[in-house]
Amino acid sequence: MSVVSSVCVTVPATTANLGPGFDCIGAALTLYNELKFIREEINPNKNLVITVTGSEATKVATDESNLVYQAFIKFFQHVQQTAPPAKIEIKLGVPLARGLGSSATAIVGGLIGANVLAGEVLTLSEVMELAIAMEGHPDNVVPALLGGCRLAATSDRGWAICDIPWCQDVVPVVAIPDFELSTSEARQVLPAQVSRQDAIFNTAHLGLLLRGLETGNQNWLRAALQDKLHQPYRKKLINNYDEINAAALSAGAYGMVISGAGPTLLALTNTDNSQAVAAAMAYEWQNKGIKAQVQTLQIDNQGATSVVQG
Ligand code: HSE
Repeated sequence: MSVVSSVCVTVPATTANLGPGFDCIGAALTLYNELKFIREEINPNKNLVITVTGSEATKVATDESNLVYQAFIKFFQHVQQTAPPAKIEIKLGVPLARGLGSSATAIVGGLIGANVLAGEVLTLSEVMELAIAMEGHPDNVVPALLGGCRLAATSDRGWAICDIPWCQDVVPVVAIPDFELSTSEARQVLPAQVSRQDAIFNTAHLGLLLRGLETGNQNWLRAALQDKLHQPYRKKLINNYDEINAAALSAGAYGMVISGAGPTLLALTNTDNSQAVAAAMAYEWQNKGIKAQVQTLQIDNQGATSVVQG
């Protein structure tokens, strides 16, 4: 088998939770990070060279704490091989710490890059298990790896992963403010226990959401995006949540949720209303003095892809 000297991995952003599916459902979006792993044959003593480009490049660590590098090293520890000296080039397209799965892109990208350089010693499903263990929950890493909308549930035999059909006329609009919110901070505000009533509420709404996403049924989608397990606690961390929500709904959104742990807000709407919803959310953030980037995206159905370059 020939030795791969470089590989470029492209990993999509993801939106997790989708309202009632806390920690178990997520969808890949058409925004990408690109990660290139180049074997350092020229200077094998230099173990770590990381370069980052993109508008938020200066915020990314280029030492051993870099998450792409940590995933790369974790992979080689897991397969009990010595990691080859490698240069990592990161091209950022996914905003950092905004609830769009930037950490998942780093973990998935690092593991896939390592797997390709190691000669594909792990299966996709083994890479997925490793990625979930590193991230701590499956709802970003699974769609980042596999694409589409995915539901993940534990089972006696590891993770059961299910693809959730997504009607083409259900359009995701993301409003990405220019402030960050760390996932750990957003998890700290959650209660350790929830009531039976709230658990039932989310179970019913997640079921409704799955059928709404599949069929595009507007009545179901209008009711489905509600949640009692995380958003009531987290919305206090996002100034003007209620006003943005009202603006999105009055422009024709089925509903609006916090994307992942936030602060990005995600509205679901149909093709006809998507421009109006995006404009209303952008206007409302701006009106409140917050800079935000609002984008109408699509579901990425490919997930992480890799191209060997030599
Ligand atoms: N399900 C996770 C959360 C996604 O909401 O905390 C964030 O990574």
